[in-house]
Amino acid sequence: MNNVNIKHLMEDGQSIIDFDTKSYNFYKLILDDFNKFFDEKSLPAINKLSEIHKNESQFNDFEGLRQRMFSLFRGKKFQDIYCKLGKEIIDNHYSKNALIQKTPTARIQPPQYMTTSFHCDAWYGHSELTTSFWVPLTKINENNTLYMAKDRASSKETLMSFKKNNYDLGQINDISKSICEPVLINYGQIKSFMPDMIHGAVPNTSNRTRVTFDFRIVSSRDDLGHKSISNYYDYNYLLNKDSLNSSDESIDDLSDLRLVSYSNSCRGVNAKSQLTLCAGIAQDRKINITRNESEIYVFSHLPVLRYYLGEESPETNGVIAFSLDIFENDISLAKKVFELALKNNKVILFAAEDILIRNNNDLTKAINIMLNNKN
Ligand SMILES: [Fe+2]
Repeated sequence: MNNVNIKHLMEDGQSIIDFDTKSYNFYKLILDDFNKFFDEKSLPAINKLSEIHKNESQFNDFEGLRQRMFSLFRGKKFQDIYCKLGKEIIDNHYSKNALIQKTPTARIQPPQYMTTSFHCDAWYGHSELTTSFWVPLTKINENNTLYMAKDRASSKETLMSFKKNNYDLGQINDISKSICEPVLINYGQIKSFMPDMIHGAVPNTSNRTRVTFDFRIVSSRDDLGHKSISNYYDYNYLLNKDSLNSSDESIDDLSDLRLVSYSNSCRGVNAKSQLTLCAGIAQDRKINITRNESEIYVFSHLPVLRYYLGEESPETNGVIAFSLDIFENDISLAKKVFELALKNNKVILFAAEDILIRNNNDLTKAINIMLNNKN
């Protein structure tokens, strides 16, 4: 792996890292998984990721396929090589205080499609300590690639001008594009860039689908911007991943679980929205939801939730709930509920934060997140 010179990254705002595509064969993993998806739908297989749009059956469920990619990203096979690559990047370029995003973001841009308007990642809550990493999986050219600011100075200057003028989105895109150039790298290379680097996509006018993923590394937990610590692995996790009990932190296989989908008053988020997210996550993880339940609002000790985590309901393995916000910052209540669940060998999955409570370690992590959110 080439050394990214972090000083260079700080000055230029961008750099390129090489990785070994044989050791980290993301392409094959994704292509094989997509072909499984097509097979399940009785659609013909594809030979190349760039040819997804050429599927004979006029396939156009690109969002479904993208969600499939996210599921793959959370699974063991992908996580094994992704965490290994993340550790290698941190070993070469960061201190052991660095954190890496747990699940990369998947992008699919077929011909004629548009994806992301021009922006910088700081606009979306990433702190100054964050570096983004963009990994193309298909061959790219100037008609289907990402565009990025030529240098950090012009990016910063443009961001300043955006602050002073109330441009509409069309103007922001036009001005941004004028200071950007196409990112032309190959599979086996990663573009890294700072959160103040303007970048964005243009409509894909090529005849190839662009498939990429991107992830972030934060140099320390001192400033995560608006992002939750639960989105990241720390170095210790990467180091001990292989020796960890596979049930610990593994978000791979929850398909045996039978969970009750639970909602309560949760800071005014309506029950339907809560249950919709729970249902989406459950479908994604192939979790069996046996029923939906709402809390009795007049009580604050959450008797319905306690019932499904107690010994009175042996037919369920626990509960899927919308968010840690169901406790409305009552940390001692949350702790009691978690302890009840663990005592009865039950789990609680919080959909919004993607946290599964199934041991004391998870309990501590969840309580820490609640404490951080409170401060
Ligand atoms: Fe971005």
